[in-house]
This record gives sequence, C-alpha cells and structure tokens, in this order.
Amino acid sequence: MDGTNDDRIRRLDDWDTDGLTALAEEFETPLYVIDLERVSENCNRLRDAFPEAEVRYAVKAHTGRSVLETVRRAGLDAECASAGEVERALAAGFRGDSLHYTAVNPPARDLDAVVSAWDDHPDITVTVGAADTLDRLDERGFDGRVCLRVNPGIGAGHHEKVRTGGHAKFGVPLSRAPETAIDAARRFDLVGLHAHAGSGISGADLADHRELVGRMGELARTVAEELSVEGLPGLEYVDVGGGFGVPYREEEPPLDLNAVAAATRDALGTVPGRDGDAARLAIEPGRYVVADAGVLLTRVNTVKPTPDTTIVGVDAGMTDLIRPALYDAYHPIANLSANLSQEAIPATVAGPICESADVFCDNRPLTRPERGDVLAVGIAGAYGYEMASQYNSRPRPAEVAVDGSDLSDSRPVRHRETVEDLTRVERPIEPLEDHE
Ligand code: LLP
Repeated sequence: MDGTNDDRIRRLDDWDTDGLTALAEEFETPLYVIDLERVSENCNRLRDAFPEAEVRYAVKAHTGRSVLETVRRAGLDAECASAGEVERALAAGFRGDSLHYTAVNPPARDLDAVVSAWDDHPDITVTVGAADTLDRLDERGFDGRVCLRVNPGIGAGHHEKVRTGGHAKFGVPLSRAPETAIDAARRFDLVGLHAHAGSGISGADLADHRELVGRMGELARTVAEELSVEGLPGLEYVDVGGGFGVPYREEEPPLDLNAVAAATRDALGTVPGRDGDAARLAIEPGRYVVADAGVLLTRVNTVKPTPDTTIVGVDAGMTDLIRPALYDAYHPIANLSANLSQEAIPATVAGPICESADVFCDNRPLTRPERGDVLAVGIAGAYGYEMASQYNSRPRPAEVAVDGSDLSDSRPVRHRETVEDLTRVERPIEPLEDHE
C-alpha cells in the first residue's frame, strides 16, 4: 500500500478555511458541507481502479438527493438497504437496472413496497440473505431478479460493530449457499452471489479480503457448474461488497485501490457466467465515495478548564455525528478561527447532549479555542448526517453543497430542521372520557 497521489484523501488542510468560516456565518452551525465535485472524483477513482466491475454506491453512507444525483451522473449503480432507500434512489433518477435492494431481515412493509416498485421497474435486483426471504418474495408474486447473499465466514472492519461476515446476522452460511442458490435459481432469475465482510477495511485487512473473494470465487464456480447441469441461466456477477476504508488519522496510509483491485481480480479468478460470458465482478462501496467530501462545522459555546483537560463545548453533538460515541471513531478536528501564533492545548471537544458519550475527542491538542470560534470536524461525509437523530429534541443540522475548492458558490441542500418538524408527526391526546 504505497499511497500514490491518486490515493490521497482530502484532509482538513485541503479545505479553504476562510470559505468554511463564511459558510458557518451564513448558514449557522452545526452545518454539514458536502463537496459534490469530490464525490464525482471518488466515483471516478473507483471506476478507474475497477474498470471491469459494476460499481454500486452503498446509498446508506449518504442518501442526500444531491449526492445521489451526483453519483448517478458519475455512472454508478445504487445499492439500497431498505425500501426507503429504494424510493429515494428512484426519485434521484436511478433506473431499475441500476438498483439493487439488499434485504436484511426485511420488514413486510419493505418487501411490499419493493415488490410494488418492481412492478414498474422489473429490472430491480433483490439481494436475499435468508432462504425464507425467497418464500416471502414468492408469496408476494415476485418472480424477478434475485442475488444470494452469503456469509463467507470472514469479517473485517474498523470496529466489531461494523463487521458483517463471520459471527453476524447477514447472509446464508457458506455451507448452505450452493443448495439455496439452486433453489433460488429454480424459482427466480438468480443473477448473482454477494458477500460483504464489513466496513472500514484498511491495507492491513487485504489478506482477509483476498480470502473472502477467493471463497466467493470457489462458491460461484460450484454454483455455475450446478446451474449448467440443470440447464438454468448462469450468473451475471459476483458482488464482493464494499468496505473500502478511508484513513481518518494523518498517520494512516491511504488505501491503494489499484492493489485492492489487483488482489480482488486475482483471488476471484474466472467464473463462468451467462450466455458464454464470464460473470462480472461487482463492488459496493459507500464510505469511499463520500467520506472525505464532507465536513461538519460547529461553533464553540463554552471553554471550561478542569484539572484533567479543557472542555470545549460546541453546538454539534452525538445527535449530528454519532460515530465517535458509537465506535470510538476518530475524526480530525481543527479550529478554523485560531490565530496561528496561539499554542495548542489538550482539549476535550464535547456536545450539548446529556450523555457522557457526547464527546468528539478526548484530550487532543487543539489550537487554543475561544468562545465563538468555528471548529471543523473532518472526513464527516459518510455515516454523518445519515445517522443523525433528534434526541434531546434537537432538530437535525442543515447541509450545504459546494463544487470543488471554491466555496463561494454554495447551495443549501437540506434545511435545518425546526422543532416543528419534530412535532409534526404528533397528535395531542383526546380528552379522557369520564368513566363513572
Ligand atoms: N454493502 C453492504 C451490504 C453493507 O452492509 C455496507 C455497509 C456497504 C456495502 C458499504 O460499506 P462501506 O463501503 O461504506 O464501508 N455506520 C458505520 C458503517 C456501517 C456500514 C454498514 N454496511 C460507520 O460509520 O463506520
């Protein structure tokens, strides 16, 4: 993993400080900033490294309309984890043949909605991770394209909570996969096999990735053989999932996508496909597309020296960006308002939520923060806004889109919620009847 220039990710230093500060003034904080040009670049980097593959954007990383449209224009497909994501991808212009719905223990309501979308878009593919999901599709009259998700017995990723292979709820166990695949092919149009090891895979995980892809290649050859014996159509693709990591810390080397692509190709080998073609490789990255295209801006409200650290209270919290609280995830943080002559102090940047997990960093050097300063939390484009909540009755933040390094041309793409947005779904209780 040598990290050529192309592998460089966009760090906080690469953003225009004055431009970000001006956005914080204009749109107030907390504020997400998303650079759509960078999103396109990331799509292109993936397509360049995997020219032979179908590249599907895992929509869950950032489902904003502006991002979905940008990704669609860049030529990627969409991988959706729920009926809601399918609906939003369709609204952003993805066509049925570029839509892949990954059904994880799917609620009946989701299956109903996707089967109804399939009526209008018969090329949608449903990826199924349990044999009984096939029955549930059958019961609804679905007889379209399905893909079988397999648990390859290998998990990887930046935290145990984001490992989806091995001891996890996802996919059909590898040992049961051939029989389930053949059953699926007899009842539906089985177009692919799928596995996803986890999220945030680094260069150090390359051996695990190679092992997973190798197991999928073996399985696909076994299934292809049985399909051919039964005279059933062959596989169109083998999807080896997403999970390509992004180096959040300065010292982490960037992922060498070309090395990952070469290892993937090598480990997969050739899988006989449909109509005399080889089955294609498919990948479905989310984080890699959006992580370094986003920044969260927040303003300092309180600076409080304590015996252990200086608490820097900011107006963003775990409701806006939950990754540090949930996974102890590291995000770079810089004080955009700092005067360079000021020294750095050990600071604990904390939000306004009544939970002690509401901390973005603990005792980390930060150029001396003062009340009113604007801080930038970097690499916040993936799983940032998407995982935001309204806990403590906090409306979700606004988001503004920019194109490239010139931040003067910005467009609001999500308005800041109001408390009214939160209470719109509520109804006052009826007056209690008098029971005497
Ligand atoms: N495909 C499937 C089936 C997935 O479950 C996921 C992510 C992806 C693709 C995309 O993975 P990515 O390329 O983004 O790593 N909230 C966590 C990440 C959870 C990922 C869940 N599945 C985080 O903030 O780190």
